[in-house]
Amino acid sequence: MKKIFTQTRRGFIRTAAAGSVALGWLGAQRAPMAFAAEAAKPALLGGTPVHAGGWAKWPEWSEAWEPAVLKVFRSGRWFRGSDGHIEEFERGYAQLLGAKRCLATASGTTALIVGLHVMDVDAGDEVIVSPYTFIASYNAILTSMALPVFADTDPATLTIDPASIASRITERTRAIMPVHIFGMPCDMDPINTIAREHKLAVVEDACQAWLAEYKGRKCGTIGDLGCFSFQESKHMPSGEGGAITGMTDELIDKCNSYHNCGRACGTNKGNGSFTRGNNYRMTQVQAVILALQFDKLVKQTAIRRANADYLSANLGQIPGITPIRLPENSRAVWHLYPFRYDPARFNGLSRDRFAQAMSAEGVPCGGIYREQYYDGLLDEAIASRGFKRLWSAERLKAYRDSFQELKGNKQVCETTVGMTQNMLLADRSDLDHIIDAIRKVQAHGAILAKANR
Ligand SMILES: Cc1ncc(COP(=O)(O)O)c(C=O)c1O
Repeated sequence: MKKIFTQTRRGFIRTAAAGSVALGWLGAQRAPMAFAAEAAKPALLGGTPVHAGGWAKWPEWSEAWEPAVLKVFRSGRWFRGSDGHIEEFERGYAQLLGAKRCLATASGTTALIVGLHVMDVDAGDEVIVSPYTFIASYNAILTSMALPVFADTDPATLTIDPASIASRITERTRAIMPVHIFGMPCDMDPINTIAREHKLAVVEDACQAWLAEYKGRKCGTIGDLGCFSFQESKHMPSGEGGAITGMTDELIDKCNSYHNCGRACGTNKGNGSFTRGNNYRMTQVQAVILALQFDKLVKQTAIRRANADYLSANLGQIPGITPIRLPENSRAVWHLYPFRYDPARFNGLSRDRFAQAMSAEGVPCGGIYREQYYDGLLDEAIASRGFKRLWSAERLKAYRDSFQELKGNKQVCETTVGMTQNMLLADRSDLDHIIDAIRKVQAHGAILAKANR
């Protein structure tokens, strides 16, 4: 199929050159055009897929890493306390981000739990968070016996709408948790301003945002603490794993104590287990695998960025497809490449059917997060004995009712489509297949929508 499609493209070049059409598609933006492929039968209805080549496998493994990994296994020094690989990783990651310090953790979720604890989020507190996020952001707050209070979602950016935060603040509010979803930075300046005015902590959920930048600073270094995930799907994976970054010794030493059964660390002094704590430690082998990937992360981030820019420039030309806007002077890292989809411009083709048709064309994509506050976990939490002890029945009812008033989130949940990050590592010719597949599905929107019924 790849071959057939190459011929089609060559045919286009000839036609375009003969007609003196600017070959804009060789640059950042392809000129609007009618591809022969658009006329072809949709793959969902038995036609030939636009893209048959597959996409990069993820996670990646390199044989060159094996000696270092085997060395750790053979040494028998596997846990944090028995060797120096974890500290080495922490120094390297802090340097990469321009953070003063870093603490490795067992996962992104445990990084968030530790970060919230150290910023003094306690039972009965409230944390303002974006509803449009992976469920772990909610769960980390609930684990602290605090209430996740949802801000509005800005449909243009998919991130927290800073203008909605102030109205959510109560006397119980202790922290704001901005989520840099899909590696797209939140608008951090107004968030930090509100936090300062109301003496609130800012714990950044940067679990999808390794190396994302906002006004010259890396996400995870802009609030009080930043939390990262290195789970298998992530850009720098180690199966499971996480990290907290911070700009003071005091905070990271406290994080270290809490993640290590309450043991003393640096400026956080005491005898034995003198503070509360848990075991949220990373293992030596995870740290070795992560440190081996620093250069790869930097190089692949540049590729994902360039390819996302290319897609945005081209998909923005297609009626009904809206690329996501980033805050000024910020750079995303695209853990997913999202765009907003308008079925009305695709002859009523539903988003799910669009995604099916795209997947059949060899371009897997789909809707991402649902309105997860209706999934049941919050009902379960607020019906629990603990939550009933901590909040009045009136507050819990008003909290539950407030989900209906959230602005932007339902719309974002219903209209966003995402493609996974590995697709952004492809060659330009493969990226062109994404654009062509969307145009093809659009050209056949009516028939695909009908076939739906
Ligand atoms: C936004 C967000 N927050 C938190 C987490 C939790 O990270 P982990 O799966 O490493 O616990 C994830 C992981 O996918 C995430 O995407």
